[in-house]
Amino acid sequence: MRVIISKNYEEMSKKAAEIVAERLRKKPDLVLGLATGSTPVGMYKELIRMHKEGNLDFSKVKTFNLDEYCGLSPDHPQSYHYFMWENLFNHININPANVYIPSGDIENVEAFCKWYEEKIKEAGGIDLQVLGIGRDGHIGFNEPGSSLTSRTRIKTLTEETVEDNARFFEKKEDVPRYAVSMGLGTIMEAKECLLLANGANKAEAIQKAIEGPVSASITASLLQFHPRAIFILDEEASKNLKRREYYRYVERMAQKLKER
Ligand code: F6R
Repeated sequence: MRVIISKNYEEMSKKAAEIVAERLRKKPDLVLGLATGSTPVGMYKELIRMHKEGNLDFSKVKTFNLDEYCGLSPDHPQSYHYFMWENLFNHININPANVYIPSGDIENVEAFCKWYEEKIKEAGGIDLQVLGIGRDGHIGFNEPGSSLTSRTRIKTLTEETVEDNARFFEKKEDVPRYAVSMGLGTIMEAKECLLLANGANKAEAIQKAIEGPVSASITASLLQFHPRAIFILDEEASKNLKRREYYRYVERMAQKLKER
């Protein structure tokens, strides 16, 4: 597990974008798992900038999003479909046929979830999964108590998540109570995971995820079992970490090794 602590949101976003760009240059047909929410917006802006400057080609990339609200059509402004096109896909040269986002407004959700898992497999699995984290420690919409081996399915959102996401809606009552989310088993099969977190309101969840026991109560803690998990944090999100200075030291030492 690598923990990278950045000065602020801007630096966190740049570092995350650099990692994505580096993996993409190495493997032009990268299979990228993506997240929504406010955290990755800066990283998406940075990726768009790199693309516009001619440094990043998405033409062979396949993407799989983590989740989608139930009951919202893809053109609903608060849907994650809408979010992804607005914040990333409309601005890069991705082939729309290579974009996969869970559907939240179909009848046979179970069949859809199976199909989604099959599509990930057919694509050869996810190379790099971008993640945010909820205040309750969730990744995707794997709320506390989720099975640690879960696959894509419907989840009921916690009150905390509904409250947090109410900022995107006119009123709290408009926030959907269910979402389709990749499972923890699905996420753990990604070859690499990149979790971004900023702001003091994520500090407690981050400390538990990185330094607490692995537990379904903080589903991000499962990443401790992942062979290639990177956490990129800003100062505020890292402030409760007990080994904060050690993580900084490790990064400095890794840099020294590279420069030798
Ligand atoms: C979104 C997702 C969620 C968010 C998390 C943090 O696709 O999977 O786990 O990453 O709720 O959301 P923000 O970034 O809005 O704080």
